[in-house]
This record gives sequence, C-alpha cells and structure tokens, in this order.
Amino acid sequence: MQSRMRPEYYLSQEIFEREQAKIFRKTWLFAGLKTLIPDHGNTMVRMLAGFPVTISNHHGEFQAHHGKTPQAIQAVGQLLFVNLAPDPMPIHDQFSPSFFSSLESCSTAWGPEVLHTVWHAKFNWKLIFENLRDMNHVRFLHGGHFANYLEMTIPVPEKLAEEATQPLADTSAPSLRAELRRFNWGGATPALIPHRRKVPWHAMVQPWGGEDRYYDWQAYPNLHIASGNAGHSFTLECYTPVAPGRTDVELFWIMARKSQDFDFSAQALLANMHGSKKIVGEDIAMLEAIQHVLHRQAPMPHQGAYEAQNSLIERCYSALMETESEF
Ligand SMILES: [Fe+2]
Repeated sequence: MQSRMRPEYYLSQEIFEREQAKIFRKTWLFAGLKTLIPDHGNTMVRMLAGFPVTISNHHGEFQAHHGKTPQAIQAVGQLLFVNLAPDPMPIHDQFSPSFFSSLESCSTAWGPEVLHTVWHAKFNWKLIFENLRDMNHVRFLHGGHFANYLEMTIPVPEKLAEEATQPLADTSAPSLRAELRRFNWGGATPALIPHRRKVPWHAMVQPWGGEDRYYDWQAYPNLHIASGNAGHSFTLECYTPVAPGRTDVELFWIMARKSQDFDFSAQALLANMHGSKKIVGEDIAMLEAIQHVLHRQAPMPHQGAYEAQNSLIERCYSALMETESEF
C-alpha cells in the first residue's frame, strides 16, 4: 500500500498548527492521573495543545482550567482526560463503550505509586504512534530481548487493509468521529508471554487480565498504555507535540494494586523504568534518525497490509489536513 503521509506533514509549521487546532483542541486528551493529585487542594499543570492547563482536586472533584476558563474534564478510572474545545464532543464520540470500560477496568487495578520521566525527543509526534502500530518493528528493532520474550504472529487484517485504501466517502463530523472511535482500542493482544520472569513482587500484587499475555491500549491522539508482564505493572506513554520536529515523550510506571504490603515498590518501578529506557530508547533513536533525514522531496513510504491501522488513521488525518472537514 502507498502511504498518504506527505513529508510536509512531519516538517511544516503550518501543518503543526492545523493539527493543534483540528486534532488536539478538538479531541479528549490524556491529562494525568488522579493519583498525582490525591488530596483536596492538590494541583498540577499540564501542557495540552500548547496551553498550560491547571488540573486540580477540589474535595475529590477534578477540575481543569486554562487561565480562568474552565475546561471539560472526564475521569476514566484513574485516568483524567481534558477537552479544550469550546463545545466538546461527548467522550463516547471518541471512545467506544467497550474501550472506555476497558480503560476504566485496567486503571482501577492500579496502585497509588507512580514513577515518571520525560524524554525531549527530536521527531514528529505521529512517528511514534506509527511505529507502535507496526507490530513488525518489534522483531527487527528490539530483536535482542523484547522480541524473544513475546510469542506472536502478526495478524494481517486483509479486509481493513482493503477498506483503508479506498477514499473516505463521508467527511462529515459524525463520520469522522466514527472513524476516530476505530483508532482507540486496547486490552489483550495476540502476543503471549510464555517465559515471563517471575520476580518476587509479582506474587504480592493483584495482576489485571488473568493471562500471561501482552496488554496494550492506544488512545488517539496522545496516550499509549502497555503491560509487558501480564498485568503486574503498566507503562503509560504520553506524547505531547512541541514543534514539527519535537515531541515530549512522558513515561509513567504504575504497579498493580498490592495484595500484601512491601516497601520496595519504588525499586521495582525503577527497574521497569530502566527496561523502558532500553526498549523505548531503541524506538526513539530510530525515529530521531528518520526525522533527521526527512526532507520535503522525500518519497512517499510503502506499507504492508498488516499496517492497516496506520492506513486507516492516515485517511482521516489527510482529510482533516487537506479539507475544511472537522471532527
Ligand atoms: Fe518499540
């Protein structure tokens, strides 16, 4: 398949501003965790679509403000989502009921401790999601460790691939929102973890999901959640576009709720974070190398049929960038 993504989508300041207006100031964005502001009076400032947004806990009720203007906020389990549009779309226009309840279910299983770091990466925000949706990258890029740890064959969604090659017939807001719902999915993946390393603390938490399986959620446009140890701990990755060639990649590590008390969870989460530094570090180095050589006359990429999800998103994205259609 031929990609619809033109080089300027990753390079142009004008496109960047169009994305901020038509995607990031229209959709529900991951904006933090309840556990980061657990008590009345706690606040945090998050950069959302280029705006500093203050999120606060007011007697257990979560509020979001840009300056003095209140913004729409919605809790989904432990996760907080904010919508900056003056007339925000209902969150179920973006998240299907099954995706919403899956996010709610997994995040409700999380304990209160969170380890956080940020990577100031030199690539366009779209590249990291495109890489995630290309499951084949795992065996080539992470061949040394991660690829041997997971057992999977990459599914090829032939029907979806065929559909995604066709132009989007209807670009009305309801139709684009129906497309948007298809970009958000998660839970159990086909990848099994047959040789999970059973570190002692795994027996001291209540894992989510109940299978030795890789769990994965993608919430367009700024959140990825994964559990590579069968629901014993979770990584959240939040992607914040800063400029066409700059993206802040935030990593959060959270453990499943403890079933017995122990005092070394900070060390366990730090070990998880070191794992991310290696694996996400391989992704980031490769994506920065792509961004570095990308130029306006670069040829359009080709995709495999297994990348149908990328193709589906590109079809909607190019309609947003090239026409006056809106979500
Ligand atoms: Fe990766």
